[in-house]
Amino acid sequence: MFCVILHFNSHLHKCMFVAALFMICEGFLVKGPSGPLIVPLGSSVVLPCYVDDPLPLKGLKVIWVRTDANTLVHVFQDYESRPDAQYQDYHDRAHFFTDKIKHGNFSLRLENVRAEDKGFYRCKVYTEQESDETLIQIKSVEHLMVSGSNHPVSAYVGEDITLNCFADSHIPPEEIDEVSWRKTDKNEIIQVLVFEKNKIIPADERYRHRVDFFTAEIPKGNFSLRLKSVRTEDKGVYMCQVFAGNFSANTTAVLEQLGFSVLHIIVLILCIAASGSAAAVCSVVSKTKIIKHN
Ligand SMILES: *[C@@H]1O[C@H](CO)[C@@H](O)[C@H](O)[C@H]1NC(C)=O
Ligand SMILES: *[C@@H]1O[C@H](CO)[C@@H](O)[C@H](O)[C@H]1NC(C)=O
Ligand SMILES: *[C@@H]1O[C@H](CO)[C@@H](O)[C@H](O)[C@H]1NC(C)=O
Ligand SMILES: *[C@@H]1O[C@H](CO)[C@@H](O)[C@H](O)[C@H]1NC(C)=O
Repeated sequence: MFCVILHFNSHLHKCMFVAALFMICEGFLVKGPSGPLIVPLGSSVVLPCYVDDPLPLKGLKVIWVRTDANTLVHVFQDYESRPDAQYQDYHDRAHFFTDKIKHGNFSLRLENVRAEDKGFYRCKVYTEQESDETLIQIKSVEHLMVSGSNHPVSAYVGEDITLNCFADSHIPPEEIDEVSWRKTDKNEIIQVLVFEKNKIIPADERYRHRVDFFTAEIPKGNFSLRLKSVRTEDKGVYMCQVFAGNFSANTTAVLEQLGFSVLHIIVLILCIAASGSAAAVCSVVSKTKIIKHN
């Protein structure tokens, strides 16, 4: 019971109140990832499971179980990992970071992820006194994963910017059929730049000569877009869509409110000032002319 309370408030375990409990319960909290995991097919994934303060190795036992299939994924007991206990599906695919266990890191590395690996995993940690656990979900195993940047990009007019788009590296580049960057506006979809069958296809008039891929990065699956000399009307949402075999995935990048740089403003003021004096000169000249005419 006290242990349960301790799990919800790790500060408690240092307080006198607990010391008075004859140290029956040391209290540790097993932590996992902040949310479900989405993993690329064929990749390696780390299923996090850890405690903040290392636990004594004596009597330590860590059991990883696939809860939906009720199979043993991996076991650490008597100072070592026990692959003999593993369910055959995980032989040579699921590993502890053995040297990290003494630091309280019981994470599991699962290699060559398959579609069937989708599901729930429980990491249960036992000390001589007590136990705690965390549940981890592999929510989906994706054939193709495309990522970008989570933050909007903001820029000044005239600047060069990069919009990120990265296809996971487990797809060989030669299997990527097409990558298209499009600007999706309210009423219109503008083709910004397309990569198809290893060729870069010229963009919409509005973007021509201003956009490009980083060609040296393409073999790495990096299809980030270089947009040069940004204009106010470039503001908006850009989608990078990748097609490989029967699969397609996308990411979006937002180009935010564009401002004018200090330099722009100074130049603008100078222009206004200049045109002001030009106007003055003009009016003087024209008046002079008018006088002459008269
Ligand atoms: C546990 O160790 C693995 C391998 O070094 C590392 O990737 C992971 O970030 C570690 N987790 C924590 C919580 O330190
Ligand atoms: C892709 O390439 C661009 C330009 O070199 C770089 O800024 C970006 O970090 C790269 N993205 C990845 C995921 O490597
Ligand atoms: C794509 O779909 C076709 C027809 O559904 C199928 O025969 C083929 O194996 C699929 N290719 C891949 C790479 O999944
Ligand atoms: C973009 O990807 C999301 C899922 O990440 C999907 O729901 C959406 O339909 C995709 N959009 C296009 C145009 O393919």
